[in-house]
Amino acid sequence: MTIDTPGRLHLVAGAAGMLGRALQDLLPGALARTHQEWDIAHLGTTRRLLEDFARAGGCILWNAAAWTAVEAAEDHPDQAARANIEGPRLLAEECARLGLGLVHVSTDFVFDGTRDVPYTEQDPPHPLGVYARTKLGGEKAVLDALPSALVARTSWVFGAGWRHFPGRILEMARRDGRVRAVEDEFGSPTYAPHLAQGLLGLVQRNAQGLFHLAGQGRASRLELARATLTLAGLGSIPVEPCLASSFPSRVRRPANSALDCARAASLGVALPPWREGVAAWLRSEGIPELEETP
Ligand SMILES: NC(=O)c1ccc[n+]([C@@H]2O[C@H](COP(=O)([O-])OP(=O)(O)OC[C@H]3O[C@@H](n4cnc5c(N)ncnc54)[C@H](OP(=O)(O)O)[C@@H]3O)[C@@H](O)[C@H]2O)c1
Repeated sequence: MTIDTPGRLHLVAGAAGMLGRALQDLLPGALARTHQEWDIAHLGTTRRLLEDFARAGGCILWNAAAWTAVEAAEDHPDQAARANIEGPRLLAEECARLGLGLVHVSTDFVFDGTRDVPYTEQDPPHPLGVYARTKLGGEKAVLDALPSALVARTSWVFGAGWRHFPGRILEMARRDGRVRAVEDEFGSPTYAPHLAQGLLGLVQRNAQGLFHLAGQGRASRLELARATLTLAGLGSIPVEPCLASSFPSRVRRPANSALDCARAASLGVALPPWREGVAAWLRSEGIPELEETP
């Protein structure tokens, strides 16, 4: 599915989400449908849309749709499975039938976090909750139905809007004048527009199968909070370290879900370091970037 022309050859599902919005910015002229316009798990709508897309010369479907509410998935496992397994399976089956390429996105949460180094694509997954289990099921469903699909696992995504960790940190700082952040959870913070760019890079290299793709480097929640505040010019706000166990949750989150992205790098695709992603997000929100103090 090699392609280098942005435009109507692309169709984005889940267009209102963070990645969906970033993909639309990257692929001007791409067709895009929000959840309201297209439920990917709905057989009739999906068939009709993809048939029309293929007939119009469409080439690649980008699936940015997912149930991403990790806690709520515990109460709604059937709905999470519908969006994260049944929908992606249907997309892959239809793409296989119609000769379309498919880009699907998965998560670092497929790992249990017991390793203390970044995870590679070869490491065995061991999901800890409903969201993670459904995302792992989605990966398998997609690659079973369409082995040529690109499936990219990413981590700790933030992008347009404030409904993500850096956004919540800034809100907390402005509201409370102080911040608490977990020091014993590690991931690879990823700016959605950088992820979109990396996915396009992999598509342009005709990458197929499973890839890890995340912001370069590993960070704790605490480090991410501190960097966000400093880059936003709020470095004087006190940040209190705490343990993940001090936030009651029914979902166990992996203590370490940083991703080793060497496989993508071997094709020449690497995302910028995660701090650059934070700075880019702040700029996009009109918050002046300041030099980080050493
Ligand atoms: N956010 C993270 O930290 C993170 C980390 C690792 C991996 N990922 C993965 O990255 C991908 C992109 O996530 P994101 O961060 O952009 O999530 P997001 O902002 O929550 O966007 C997901 C979008 O999918 C839509 N959606 C849900 N169910 C759907 C369905 N059945 N049909 C069509 N659309 C549906 C949602 O609409 P509604 O809001 O209306 O339901 C939402 O607009 C997902 O595969 C996610 O699992 C995310």
